[in-house]
Amino acid sequence: MSTRFGRWLELARREGPVRALRLLRHRAAAARWERELGVETAGDHLLADEGLADPERHDHSASSVLDLQRVLQRTAPRPEHGVFLDLGSGKGRAVLVAAQRPFRRVIGVEFSPHLTAVARRNLDRARPHLRCGSVELVTGPAEEYAVPEDVSLIYLYNPFRGSVMARVCDSLHRSLLASPREVTVVVATPRHFEAAVAGQDWIRPRGVFRGLRLHAIHECRPRVAATAGSH
Ligand SMILES: C[S@@+](CC[C@H](N)C(=O)[O-])C[C@H]1O[C@@H](n2cnc3c(N)ncnc32)[C@H](O)[C@@H]1O
Repeated sequence: MSTRFGRWLELARREGPVRALRLLRHRAAAARWERELGVETAGDHLLADEGLADPERHDHSASSVLDLQRVLQRTAPRPEHGVFLDLGSGKGRAVLVAAQRPFRRVIGVEFSPHLTAVARRNLDRARPHLRCGSVELVTGPAEEYAVPEDVSLIYLYNPFRGSVMARVCDSLHRSLLASPREVTVVVATPRHFEAAVAGQDWIRPRGVFRGLRLHAIHECRPRVAATAGSH
């Protein structure tokens, strides 16, 4: 039995045959992309292994490269005007895929010092392949990070939930109030994000992108106060 067929069979038992084929296609594309850039961004990592376990903070697994490339094409057609922020940036996969486009700035914020160190090594290796000249990796809890006032596109791949997610959304709202602008938020596996923003009028759903995972696309804009004499 070929190893590729063996892997498919094992996945097909767990996920069903169609999803197994899609998973293998996405994994093969990610492996090709990693070879091209000379990076290692795949693989799970448990926060508990660093003594950082917290029920509201999720462990590392990497986004699909194909999904990221497609969703960025859709949400940032002119990246040279934008600033990309990945909250829960892990080993840096989303940061690097974004930085292959000419964003003005790309930022990743990651709670785990170990994962940030891996992301830094990846960034050093990938530099010749990047079109964004300003990539910043920050170590620390996203809920204590003040969203910079020039950020235009935020990416979240299921990094946290509950009160952590609520504090991150508050930080985004504060950034919008301080510097009124349109910000797009792309959330892969959006359940916890949607629970945190339900009923808030400064953010609204704009669409979805269905790839390997479901991505919810939200648009946010601070509510403009009605001016005297306006109808
Ligand atoms: C599912 S991984 C996504 C990794 C990366 N964004 C990607 O798309 O490949 C979620 C990441 O969020 C990080 N994380 C969890 N809670 C966090 C917090 N409060 N602040 C910053 N990062 C956090 C985890 O350590 C993990 O690396």
